[in-house]
Amino acid sequence: MRRITIPRPDDWHVHLRDGATLAAVAPFTARRFGRAIVMPNLRPPITTTDAARAYRDRILAALPAGSGFEPLMTLYLTESTTPAEIARAKASGIVHGVKLYPAGATTHSDAGVADVRRTDATLERMAELGMPLLVHGETPDPSVDPFDREARFLDEVLAPLAERFASLRIVVEHITTRHAVDFIRSSRDGIAATITPQHLLHNRGALFAGGLRPHYYCLPVLKREEDRRALVDAATGGEPRFFLGTDSAPHERATKEAACGCAGMFTAHAAIELYAEVFDAAGRLDRLAGFASRFGADFYGLAPHRETLTLVEAPWTVPESYPFDDGRLVPYRAGAAVRWRIDAENGE
Ligand code: NCD
Ligand code: ZN
Repeated sequence: MRRITIPRPDDWHVHLRDGATLAAVAPFTARRFGRAIVMPNLRPPITTTDAARAYRDRILAALPAGSGFEPLMTLYLTESTTPAEIARAKASGIVHGVKLYPAGATTHSDAGVADVRRTDATLERMAELGMPLLVHGETPDPSVDPFDREARFLDEVLAPLAERFASLRIVVEHITTRHAVDFIRSSRDGIAATITPQHLLHNRGALFAGGLRPHYYCLPVLKREEDRRALVDAATGGEPRFFLGTDSAPHERATKEAACGCAGMFTAHAAIELYAEVFDAAGRLDRLAGFASRFGADFYGLAPHRETLTLVEAPWTVPESYPFDDGRLVPYRAGAAVRWRIDAENGE
């Protein structure tokens, strides 16, 4: 049986939700990852350090006893986020990034930023204090083809922004295209990207395989096969600018299987296992540790974990659904096999 041991990985982009849904999903992330950058797109969004601290306490309370998992909090950038709030966030030691959602681009983004120029003073303070900007990189302009929204945002909004704030650290979250891979590779120092398992495993054909497949719908939407290949090349290439971020985004079954279904795929139940499949298929399991356990920590200025995680090649079948508050959560690959599993030594 093949095994692989890596330093305990971290998830640099996850949605843990709140209340009963937080309790339903947080243990999946905490079982695999030592830390995670927790998205602030709750209702209402987490826009202040005080709100982030309270949310952090709720996450810690939802974890199984003895969990050493550390939630790394983020603020939701609005046009009224002040430079003083950034200074408070930095001083707190618990806020590790500020998230830019172009208004209307994705789930719970309506409080986001319509005109990024209106946040210039705040971005300036972030650059000064070394607070990273985490970006949902899609233009929300409905006249732009959904498959072109990432490229348009990177070229028209992010490139000029990165020049205006030459020392601002930026993570382009969940990149989906070859264009984005090239953009990251050719950009200045201090710019990195996360990549999800679904964008490494699937192209947009998955959305239409034999009928409309709502559980493959996430934002940014899956792209072409050539894009998927470029992402695999970036993730498995040993390049420190690309690191793990699942974008695991749970939605109750009825809100996905609907006339207007929510965007988001839940992968936290098998996240590191799925990345192992991708790296194995590329013949690059030796590079999983860099992508999953080192490059992100380096970017955020944190030490990698000394503790390890061992995966064994022992296929298991994903449940059809998990409990999710009063409803059900349909996980990625429901009813089908995942090839790797966490070794018993790691407390499964
Ligand atoms: C995310 C969510 O559901 O919160 N959905 C998604 O499709 N990824 C929001 C986001 O990260 O875009
Ligand atoms: Zn997300």
